[in-house]
Amino acid sequence: MAPAEPNAKPFQLIGDAPVFPEEREGWRGYIEWEKYPEKKKQAADILAKYDFPVPPEFQLEPLPKTNPLLEGVRWKHYHYALGDTLKDMPDISWEHVLKEKSEDMLHVLQFPYNGEPPRKRLVETEITDNKDLFVRNHGGIPEIDPASYYFEVEGLVNNPKKITLAELQDESIFPRMSTTVTLQCSGTRRLEQIHDYPGDGDELINAPWGEGAIGTSRWTGVSLKKVIKYCGGLKDNGKHLEFFGADTYFKKGQVYNYGVSVPSRKMKVNEVMLAWEVNGETLPPIHGGPLRVVVMGYIGARSCKWLTRINVISDPSLAPVQMKEYIYYTPQVGKHNATYSNGFSIQTMPVASAIMTPVDKDVIMHDGKIKLTGWAYSGSGWPERVEVSADGGGVWYQVPYDQLSTKYLHAWRTWEYEIPVDAEGWLEFCVRCWDDALNTQPTFVRSAWNWDLHVTSSCHRVKLYSVNRTKPMTAKRLKLMEEKGVSMLPLTRPMEFDLETEEEYLEEMKKRGGRDPIE
Ligand code: MTE
Repeated sequence: MAPAEPNAKPFQLIGDAPVFPEEREGWRGYIEWEKYPEKKKQAADILAKYDFPVPPEFQLEPLPKTNPLLEGVRWKHYHYALGDTLKDMPDISWEHVLKEKSEDMLHVLQFPYNGEPPRKRLVETEITDNKDLFVRNHGGIPEIDPASYYFEVEGLVNNPKKITLAELQDESIFPRMSTTVTLQCSGTRRLEQIHDYPGDGDELINAPWGEGAIGTSRWTGVSLKKVIKYCGGLKDNGKHLEFFGADTYFKKGQVYNYGVSVPSRKMKVNEVMLAWEVNGETLPPIHGGPLRVVVMGYIGARSCKWLTRINVISDPSLAPVQMKEYIYYTPQVGKHNATYSNGFSIQTMPVASAIMTPVDKDVIMHDGKIKLTGWAYSGSGWPERVEVSADGGGVWYQVPYDQLSTKYLHAWRTWEYEIPVDAEGWLEFCVRCWDDALNTQPTFVRSAWNWDLHVTSSCHRVKLYSVNRTKPMTAKRLKLMEEKGVSMLPLTRPMEFDLETEEEYLEEMKKRGGRDPIE
């Protein structure tokens, strides 16, 4: 279960339980906020009465070794405070996790649920099993009966419409599309930035991600371009498509529905789809079922789940997830001077990669080669070349093309390679990817550190302890250890037997001219 948060007192309702009814029949956990400013204000007034628990420190202190890593008590209390429609969301969401995800997920945060799969399994297949797809939620998981499902298209569109799932799935109206797409959270590998230098704790407390907030699936649905055409096309100033989800999102004492936007040019090239199927299965509720947006090549945040509304607008959305988050700052910007406007909005995912096995601090016994596995991805193109280094980035070895998985226009490539390793002791291995436009990755985490700790796109590094069995001294020591039943692990445990006999020592000293210099 989730770790106890030391400063978290049990929730106590202040006054009567508020009543914010469900917006639609057949939907559970959906309160529409964006259309009702007075309701938003009422919720903000309620939230203002509470002294919500402060999230525990985990950037300057080590992360707990529990699974879930963090509980999210503050977010649970936000939901409890808003009455019956939302109060069961933490429990309902956790039930979905237990039902829809692999048992051995690393639960980064229990609520809102965020989790990533075990590193090794993630790169064993180029298509990720649905149960192993990472999950990034900002709120609870709404439960929506597909038969009652519809979304609205409105704003700067010629014929605003309500479209049901059945209509969208009617092939006489909309041609279907299936395509292989990688979704990557822009927080992937955030832990490396935290380890170097901590950053903003507002959004981060939810998602101390490792290398697994990425996955690749075959998505089926309809291109958004067809839907917009069905709605009579965009009006002249219709330049951005704003998506809203049914979940409730809390930020700085206010409530919202999850909202983001993409430029309409992205839709025009068929890189935005509305999907109801993933890897041949009905889209599970935890991933946005019955219907979600899938935006190819952009950060996962734009792929809005539990879609309720597409609003065509003239400028990028002012919803907080678009305007206030996923902002990329220059390294001198931080708590002392950051503003929302003083950073750019992260849309296209940069080139990135990771070594998934072995993992940092592993001890590897080998015969001159170490097998590395991992992934490589580029949002604006596709990975053409993957290179690995055993000396921290001095000498690079190209992963042969036949050891990279299929080349898709919108997906990662998994890879494996046995890198030659002569040296022993602690070595720093790293990986970089080159995409089709020759884009590659910054060398060090520090070179691309940013206050919001987004897109850790620098070369991914792991320190491995190399024990090369082809070296005579090492082979001799390993044999002796085997005979004596002594283990190499943990590396830091002192050797139980003498490293050399007195006779061996004296013989060596004689060969070397003794310890002491000649006077
Ligand atoms: N859509 C809604 N409605 N609510 C959310 O919290 N999270 C976004 C995006 N869409 C989110 C959402 C983020 S940040 C990511 S990375 C992806 O969903 C993750 O999709 P997944 O959970 O299906 O892997």
